[in-house]
Amino acid sequence: MRNISSSGLCFLMYLILLCSCFQISFAVDTLTPTQLIKDGETLVSAKERFEFGFFSPGSSKNRYLGIWYKQLQPRTVVWVANRDNPLINSTGLLKISYEGNLILVNETESILWSSNISKVDRPVVQLLDTGNLVIREEADYDPRDYLYQSFDHPTDTLLPGMKFGWDLRKGENIFLTSWKNAEDPSPGEYSFNIDPHGFPQIFLYKGLVPIYRSGSWNGVQFSGVSGMTQSYTFNFRFVSNQDEIFYSYTLKNESIYSRAVMNYSGVVERYTWLDTDQKWNLYWYVPRDQCDTYMECGVYGICDMNALPFCKCLNGYVPKDPQNWYLNDGSSGCLKDIGYECKKNDGFLKYTKMKIPDTSQAFVNINMTLKECEDKCRSNCSCKAFASHQITNGGTGCVIWVDNFKDLRQFPQGGQDLFVRVGASQVENDAKEKRREMMLATLVVISTCILIGASVYFIWKKNILKFVPKRPTEETVHREKIQEAPPFDAVKQTTRSYSNEKKSDIELLQLDFHTLTTATQNFSDVNKLGEGGFGSVYKGTLEDGQEIAVKRLSMTSGQGCVEFKNEAVLIAKLQHRNLVRLLGCCIQENEKVGYMAPEYAMDGHFSIKSDVFSFGVLVLEIISGKKNRGFYHSSEQLNLLGYAWRLWRGGRGLELTDETMEDTCTPIEILRCIQVGLLCVQERAEDRPTMSSAVLMLSSDLAMLPQPKQPGFCLVSNTPSEKGSSSSKHESCSVNELTVTMVEPR
Ligand SMILES: *[C@@H]1O[C@H](CO)[C@@H](O)[C@H](O)[C@H]1NC(C)=O
Ligand SMILES: *[C@@H]1O[C@H](CO)[C@@H](O)[C@H](O)[C@H]1NC(C)=O
Ligand SMILES: *[C@@H]1O[C@H](CO)[C@@H](O)[C@H](O)[C@H]1NC(C)=O
Ligand SMILES: *[C@@H]1O[C@H](CO)[C@@H](O)[C@H](O)[C@H]1NC(C)=O
Ligand SMILES: *[C@@H]1O[C@H](CO)[C@@H](O)[C@H](O)[C@H]1NC(C)=O
Ligand SMILES: *[C@@H]1O[C@H](CO)[C@@H](O)[C@H](O)[C@H]1NC(C)=O
Ligand SMILES: *[C@@H]1O[C@H](CO)[C@@H](O)[C@H](O)[C@H]1NC(C)=O
Repeated sequence: MRNISSSGLCFLMYLILLCSCFQISFAVDTLTPTQLIKDGETLVSAKERFEFGFFSPGSSKNRYLGIWYKQLQPRTVVWVANRDNPLINSTGLLKISYEGNLILVNETESILWSSNISKVDRPVVQLLDTGNLVIREEADYDPRDYLYQSFDHPTDTLLPGMKFGWDLRKGENIFLTSWKNAEDPSPGEYSFNIDPHGFPQIFLYKGLVPIYRSGSWNGVQFSGVSGMTQSYTFNFRFVSNQDEIFYSYTLKNESIYSRAVMNYSGVVERYTWLDTDQKWNLYWYVPRDQCDTYMECGVYGICDMNALPFCKCLNGYVPKDPQNWYLNDGSSGCLKDIGYECKKNDGFLKYTKMKIPDTSQAFVNINMTLKECEDKCRSNCSCKAFASHQITNGGTGCVIWVDNFKDLRQFPQGGQDLFVRVGASQVENDAKEKRREMMLATLVVISTCILIGASVYFIWKKNILKFVPKRPTEETVHREKIQEAPPFDAVKQTTRSYSNEKKSDIELLQLDFHTLTTATQNFSDVNKLGEGGFGSVYKGTLEDGQEIAVKRLSMTSGQGCVEFKNEAVLIAKLQHRNLVRLLGCCIQENEKVGYMAPEYAMDGHFSIKSDVFSFGVLVLEIISGKKNRGFYHSSEQLNLLGYAWRLWRGGRGLELTDETMEDTCTPIEILRCIQVGLLCVQERAEDRPTMSSAVLMLSSDLAMLPQPKQPGFCLVSNTPSEKGSSSSKHESCSVNELTVTMVEPR
């Protein structure tokens, strides 16, 4: 008995379960011509992934017909039928009209929305588990025969499996348009759209203005979208042939929810649903950074987020508006460099990891090899660059740019190779990094040699030192009492820092005056090595036996205390095999003693700013291949500095360049050198950069250079000057004469 009653209970339970199952599955996914849907009723897809019915977005009272995820809260709408024709209350009706159209009507039977298809005999409306609402013939399940599908008329959301792009046979374009805002699904100002011209690519438009470009499909990904290649979640697909051009994606695990949406905020977003957290996760989005902005660097400019300024010009091109360019507004783009003429033996410079330029007007051949592509490009002077059409299989096909070379960017990884036409001479040289480093090294070596090597050379020859560089500007003489220097041994242990970050960071060994007196036998004449303009140099021996050279500045030396310290710090920083090392210095009362290591002593006046001036002149001399002094610009009566300054102000800085420079350096590098040079020779010493920042400016792309002011002494000295004091002008020029002469001993 007991057994029977328990099995009866089971049967009852089974019935209840069956009933409840039946009720759940009672929700239907199809609508036939005899049925209609009122506000409050819905269609639900077979696996209950999507639901189709009436809804109000946000706090709006308007009623819209749409599709959303059945299971997910809060409601996420993926499609809206009557997006710009809402119902004002819940009196809407959805039905199939007698000619087979799906129509939305209000109380007065006015049609607010229609599927707008031609006559069908036995139509059925069905909501599929993909989120696609289709109208088909009753017995025909073939997707190719669908009479209507919501996937062909997306609003702001791209679902997996949806084709996004062009049906060229019908001339129809499927694209996304944002909502106006979270409460109004009517078309907003942003759209995401495939441009079928040239080599197809996707654009994000604000109104009619493109604000982002995906780049074209290179076989693996869109060339401007990094991170598409190695997806464990998605399969991406791009098809381009005579019939259609479309992009679509599917999920590797089809039970995962994912959507891409043209957000009303102007961002294209891809979300995936996190089951564990029960929320949407922002998986990917564009535009992502400044370089994603369409034409951020104008024509012939490359945007690189890892550089400052972000924009650089292609090799052979120069900024159209250098001023704004270095203020990080590159939108004016670049111009072809003067003097470049197309030749049959032109070469191509390879840029890697590129988002290739806008291809909407590019020439495309999918059958050419890269070599054929190169030959085709070289043979026609209109051709500016070429690249592979697809990067798979080592690169196939050919894309050629004739003009409209715009919206390039360089990625830290990903992207593809781009070959840009340059003069034959430019190709012969090595990578441009190498060239710049070489040039920089040359500048630094030459200038340090000039400043110091020469004096070492003279001392070595045991000649009396006569080398006294004159200073380009008068400097105020001021002497201060310096605090008692710590005893030698105490300071000797302190770590010597050679970092060139900040002047104050550099510790200089300060020595006891007494120590030096002892070492040099009270500065005896026997120990005297030579004499400079600002003091004598003595040989000495420390208690520990180390041989040293000591320079004792004459008390009448015009050098101020601050300058003295600067100089000491500067020399301490200079490390070069041609230089003796500065071990320490001594500042006591009015005694200043520029203390140095072993065999050779050095001299040379080392105020930071005056040497910066000389350095600047030297830089300009190297760039122009002309001496400042010997240079005489006939019509203007300008010396080199004045001439350089005038060209620079006129935006014609490159005209200064010596021919031999043009082959080794890019115009950008040359312009940078000229600018640094001009900064160094500014009239006011305070305006000039320090030596270390000048070097930094030359070596680093990061440095944002200030605009130079008028250089000191830009007229030739024999020119009658209005403000007199031409003698000091002459003096400044003599500095340069001297520096140039000093190269020769090396
Ligand atoms: C819906 O709005 C119309 C037009 O304002 C009105 O005539 C009708 O009574 C409303 N119906 C309901 C059920 O509120
Ligand atoms: C029905 O829609 C039409 C057209 O939009 C409109 O003129 C009419 O007032 C609406 N009627 C109701 C009752 O909402
Ligand atoms: C309906 O289709 C016809 C032609 O097929 C077209 O001219 C018309 O603009 C369409 N109407 C709507 C509302 O889409
Ligand atoms: C697919 O995703 C579902 C839901 O996240 C998960 O339960 C299932 O294990 C996944 N299947 C595979 C093959 O990864
Ligand atoms: C659009 O972006 C906002 C945040 O900017 C977000 O709250 C909203 O959910 C997004 N819309 C869609 C449809 O994902
Ligand atoms: C490329 O080659 C294919 C097959 O070899 C051919 O059908 C096609 O017309 C060619 N396309 C072009 C642009 O030459
Ligand atoms: C070079 O290319 C341009 C643009 O495609 C074209 O108009 C011109 O005819 C070509 N010239 C030669 C010599 O092929």
